[in-house]
Parts: sequence; C-alpha cells; structure tokens
Amino acid sequence: MKNLTLQITLDQYQNEEELTDIDRNLLNQARLATYKSYAPYSNFHVGAAILLDDGTIVSGNNQENAAFPSGLCAERSAIFWTGANYPEKKIKSIAVVARPGGSDLFRGVSPCGACRQSILEYETRQKSPIRLILVGSDHSILITHSIGDLLPLKFEEF
Ligand code: THU
Repeated sequence: MKNLTLQITLDQYQNEEELTDIDRNLLNQARLATYKSYAPYSNFHVGAAILLDDGTIVSGNNQENAAFPSGLCAERSAIFWTGANYPEKKIKSIAVVARPGGSDLFRGVSPCGACRQSILEYETRQKSPIRLILVGSDHSILITHSIGDLLPLKFEEF
C-alpha cells in the first residue's frame, strides 16, 4: 500500500484590478446575472457568466421552485443553455458569484458538486479546459485552470 497525494494549482489575484479586462468583465456579467435570479425561497441570488471561444458571453442564474429539487443552480442554468444554443462553441471560462439576502453586497461561492460534474462533461466533450473564476471571502480572486481540478477522482472512464 502507498499513499497518493493529489495536488491542484489555483491562480490567486489579490483583487480584481489585477485581472485581465476579459476576466473582470466576465465577473461583472456574473454579478449582473444575480439580479435576474429567481430565488424567493433561499433569497440567495447566484450568477454565472460563461465566455465562449468567439467572445460571446452567456449568463445564467439560479431558478428556484416550490418543489425544491426542481430548481436549478446558476452554473447549470448557464451551461445547459450554452449547450442548447452553442453546441459547436468551446467554453473558455466561467465566473460565479452570489448576492445573498437581496442586498447589493456580493459574496464568493464555489460551484456545488452537481454543477462541477455537469461542467466537467462539457470540458471532456470539448477536449479543452474550462477555467473557473471565483471570488474569495477576502476579495481575492481564484482562478482554476480546469474544472476537472475541482473534482478529483471524477466520474468518467479511467
Ligand atoms: N446555488 C447555485 O446557484 N449554485 C451553486 O453552486 C450552489 C447553490 C443556488 C441553489 C439555490 O437556489 C441557492 O443557491 C441556495 O442554495
């Protein structure tokens, strides 16, 4: 028996001024998307913005439902819409952010396991990595090189 240690590398930026214009804009699109979320039950508004390889930006947000499991997270709303409308385009990056309690204050969130698995499928399908842009609690920005990094021992053939 031996122990295996898995490692991932994230890029951390002290604040969003350090980001490229393209990444900063994507983050702002995710913030804007929170204002169209439908979250009357949790009052936790999540926005996701997806950058495609031709520069197109697709955004989505969480859509809740009185039958709770029927609702959908922001990331999957955005990526399924992207898959439905731009199946031939590659996804380069996804920015995610939350706005709790109907305020104008934003908070960092990281995609739930189901969203990671769903995004991974698009990464595998397009054969190129999908970057994830997240905001840390200290306002630093974390960028993963690939969604697969956030899902060790992921469900796929190996
Ligand atoms: N939510 C997302 O939109 N993305 C996630 O990755 C996790 C949670 C939503 C689901 C629900 O509408 C609200 O946040 C509170 O859990």
